[in-house]
Amino acid sequence: MKCFETFRNRGELFFFRLRQSVRVQKSAHISHSRREMRSPAVRIASVKVFVTFALSSFLLLVFYSVCDARGRGYSPPLLTTSPVLKVRAADDSYYDCEMMATPQDFAPIRSPQTIHSIIAMKVQNKSVIELGTRNGDGISCFAQFASSAIAIEYDKTYCARLEERARLHNPPFWSVQCVDAFKYENFDADIITWWQQNPLTNFAVLKKLKEEQCAGRIRQSAEAILVFDEKWPKDMKDFALLSSVFSWQQRVNFDEYRLCATENARDNQGRDLCYRSKGVFAVASVPISQYPYFKCQEPEIFHIFFQLFIKFYKFFI
Ligand SMILES: C[S@@+](CC[C@H](N)C(=O)[O-])C[C@H]1O[C@@H](n2cnc3c(N)ncnc32)[C@H](O)[C@@H]1O
Repeated sequence: MKCFETFRNRGELFFFRLRQSVRVQKSAHISHSRREMRSPAVRIASVKVFVTFALSSFLLLVFYSVCDARGRGYSPPLLTTSPVLKVRAADDSYYDCEMMATPQDFAPIRSPQTIHSIIAMKVQNKSVIELGTRNGDGISCFAQFASSAIAIEYDKTYCARLEERARLHNPPFWSVQCVDAFKYENFDADIITWWQQNPLTNFAVLKKLKEEQCAGRIRQSAEAILVFDEKWPKDMKDFALLSSVFSWQQRVNFDEYRLCATENARDNQGRDLCYRSKGVFAVASVPISQYPYFKCQEPEIFHIFFQLFIKFYKFFI
């Protein structure tokens, strides 16, 4: 409201100045016709009208854009106007994995493409490793933004498809390591990401990554990006246990119901899954160095205690 009052006051000031200038111009014009010669006062008044008009229009534009941006819930730098917002929107759609990748799977078999769009933004110009890549719907989008990308998958059928898909681009956007993630030894990257599925569980992977970091094989700044399905209790228990160490988190609506229902049209068991193909996913980052349930210097007994604590929490809560 205050913003629009300022806007209105500026508008009134503008019209007041405009009226004054017109009056000056009129009187100058009258004296001009009386004297039947062009007075410098006429020219000055015209310039004044023009300048006042231009300045006021500019001010109106600035105030409108600020009010408009505030009304949309932005806390704008000056001139977050509609055209600039459109540019922002175009920027966001730059990372639109729904548009960029032709899916082979659908949620909830894999994480939603809207989540992959956020990962795409986060891995811009960074090295990324995805654990458990399946058919590669995620990596085929976010690898395009990363400085390098590795897919780690232990299922040979998926590995073959991943290789095939990677070769569609020359040079390929990602490389494939067809191994059990727990046996892999070169995790050094800016970002390591996965969506858990037994045995690739969040706590098992985080412990492995922290051990590797303690041994000096992963850079200190490395981050793990984890995703959580809000309709999957196991994910949400992990989310609760880890939320104190998230460096950022985001909740995202998604809707892949049509894709899921079409793919599972003739399969009852598959169709039952589709209630999870629409809803909310969360995506969050754990700086590996901050992972609290494994400490580099502590004796094995602490790690056993942490594992028991996590098991106890998951069982009772
Ligand atoms: C839930 S899916 C993830 C889908 C994938 N992130 C996507 O968005 O398309 C889990 C994947 O992890 C793989 N996986 C599970 N345990 C693994 C392990 N120990 N090493 C490598 N891959 C594993 C599975 O084969 C499966 O493809």
